Amino acid sequence: MTELLEETEAGIARAAALLRAGELVAFATETVYGLGADATNAQAVSAIFEAKGRPRFNPLICHYPDADTAFADGEADERAIRLARAFWPGPLTFVLKRRPNCPVALLASAGLDTLALRVPAHETALSLLRAVGRPVAAPSANRSGLVSPTTVAHVLDGLSGRIAAILVGGPCAVGVESTVLDLSGPNPVLLRPGGVTVEAIEAEIGAVGRPPPMSDTPIGLRSPGMMASHYAPSLPVRLEARTVSEEEALLAFGQPLAGAGTVFNLSEAGDLRQAASRLFEGLRWLDGEGQRLGLARIATMPIPHHGLGMAINDRLRRSAAPRDDIPSRG
Ligand code: TXA
Ligand code: MG
Repeated sequence: MTELLEETEAGIARAAALLRAGELVAFATETVYGLGADATNAQAVSAIFEAKGRPRFNPLICHYPDADTAFADGEADERAIRLARAFWPGPLTFVLKRRPNCPVALLASAGLDTLALRVPAHETALSLLRAVGRPVAAPSANRSGLVSPTTVAHVLDGLSGRIAAILVGGPCAVGVESTVLDLSGPNPVLLRPGGVTVEAIEAEIGAVGRPPPMSDTPIGLRSPGMMASHYAPSLPVRLEARTVSEEEALLAFGQPLAGAGTVFNLSEAGDLRQAASRLFEGLRWLDGEGQRLGLARIATMPIPHHGLGMAINDRLRRSAAPRDDIPSRG
């Protein structure tokens, strides 16, 4: 049985107690729901991989209530401190060198000498993290390779009965995962576009290295979770659709293409922020409707490739990628 815990003091206390006891608890963040475990407990971390059906030990993001606790585990330089001031709490993850006394289980960082850390901008998540008093490792709370969850219903869909509890926290405002920025070397490298735009990061610290469009290597090795097929609905996905056929469900942006029967509009106004927050909801809905109606695939309209559009396009490309790389899905 998976307990549903309310966003109350008692609910948060119960969630914290379960996490401290080594159980798995999903919780809302501003990006997507995370599947949390005590990051210092290797057995609890390994249960994350098992519950998700994640076939490989990809490194996970550790969540902290504030920059002080985060930087006690990861070595922050001036760039990290500056970015943390600008964007934490918020959807930005740093990859930093692990400090020698860092208590995070090696499994959480897949044996790397670096650690991914972030402070989520979600009041209930922050209360939970303070109550746990330990870093909480949390990938998205979905079965491996499938669409990320932005509501409790999505989490239940994939993980009901496989995890101890869900701390209910409303729909996720940002809707795509955090931006992952590697600051462990001399040059900052964007490992995953996400909720904080690369333009905003560059305004703080100057040029940031970009990953190649579909990064299996070498970024795939630097950030092993960033493999091609991911976020995959059951129906195939066709990108950059300029026309739509009768056998397609349409993920629209702005004015929908003429002739589409089953449409989910990410943002009629063409607003990228709104589109990001509705992306995973839209993919799930179209997948369900499309299957119910016997449609052949999901067609997606072009999204401008700037700001949050970069994160949206990254997720869409992965949802459309060939699905033969299952061992690398996260
Ligand atoms: O918004 C988010 O970031 C969500 C919410 C729950 O916080 N979490 C999330 O975690 O997306 P996860 O574990 O699914 O994504 C972790 C990403 C992967 O691309 C992984 O490869 C990369 O961060 N990563 C983690 N640790 C790393 C490390 N030490 N070096 C390089 N990349 C790392
Ligand atoms: Mg994920």
